[in-house]
Amino acid sequence: MIRQAAAAGRQTSATFASRPGPALPCPASDGVVWRPLDIRDPARVAAVIADVAPSAVITASSGADWAVTADGAVRVALAAAEQGCRLVHVFSDAVFSGARVRYDERCLPDPLTPYGAAKAAAETAVRLLMPAAAVARTSLIAGHGRSVHERTVHALADGTRDTVLFTDDIRCPVHVDDLAAALWEIALSGAAGMFHLAGPDALGRHDPGVLIARRDGLDGARLPAGRRAGSSRTRGRGRAVREQPPALSCPRPRGRHRRPGRAARLKAACVPDVRPTGRTGPGSHRRHGSRVKR
Ligand SMILES: NC(=O)c1ccc[n+]([C@@H]2O[C@H](COP(=O)([O-])OP(=O)(O)OC[C@H]3O[C@@H](n4cnc5c(N)ncnc54)[C@H](OP(=O)(O)O)[C@@H]3O)[C@@H](O)[C@H]2O)c1
Repeated sequence: MIRQAAAAGRQTSATFASRPGPALPCPASDGVVWRPLDIRDPARVAAVIADVAPSAVITASSGADWAVTADGAVRVALAAAEQGCRLVHVFSDAVFSGARVRYDERCLPDPLTPYGAAKAAAETAVRLLMPAAAVARTSLIAGHGRSVHERTVHALADGTRDTVLFTDDIRCPVHVDDLAAALWEIALSGAAGMFHLAGPDALGRHDPGVLIARRDGLDGARLPAGRRAGSSRTRGRGRAVREQPPALSCPRPRGRHRRPGRAARLKAACVPDVRPTGRTGPGSHRRHGSRVKR
């Protein structure tokens, strides 16, 4: 998101918890400023937002604990509201159990994991406290090799990690560039409410793993496949056995008067970008997310 903002010349401040991101030139300023921020610290959250005085706050922070994922998210929303800023908050398909086959934006959370519960608590609070906010649920993020999923694929192919990729854990992989572009479009459009921003294909986690391996010249056959249902790896973590895990449903645009942003149906998140390296290049890298008209 920061790269896209800098490239578009949008004056942007970024925050970090553990280490600053890359120095990026921005034509509209002296460059992107990285500020340390722990969203568990209410005074610091308020101070950073007051200091930057942004027109919009986009929150993609997340962590392993409730204090970050739930409390921290709500704290950022409250501070943004106090400053009168627009808010776009990134949430997750982990808020769903998988009891249904498809989930659209009207579906209420029914989480199974502590992470999903924290995300569900935060999205509920943000939705109710800030009706003007945009709340975006997304799915498995991949793109330039830095995502958790891509790193896991490399570790499995190298034999440096011992785990399996579930075939029955269905996600809708989204390319990070498409997701970032859609979040910017929503942020700039002023649209409010719930948005599902995910790829069009519902795939078991193992399938994009194989595609990523192929793209990166790795042996996809080295990626162990398994089923979440009945797996000892998920026992004790409260994840139920599901035959029909969740897939986010992103509505197609209808008519000219659709709600801005609802049509941000992101396509081909994973597949085009995971072509064998030799065939990926300018022109062959086709991502065709429908754009949000303003
Ligand atoms: N990755 C996926 O496949 C996926 C799927 C569905 C939804 N999502 C959602 O998409 C968003 C981005 O995901 P991601 O994979 O990029 O997450 P991530 O790699 O886990 O990054 C989490 C971000 O939160 C920041 N953070 C962690 N603890 C913090 C704290 N105490 N205070 C302030 N910031 C803190 C981290 O900053 P530092 O890097 O500086 O530590 C990092 O920027 C999250 O909201 C996630 O729930 C992701």
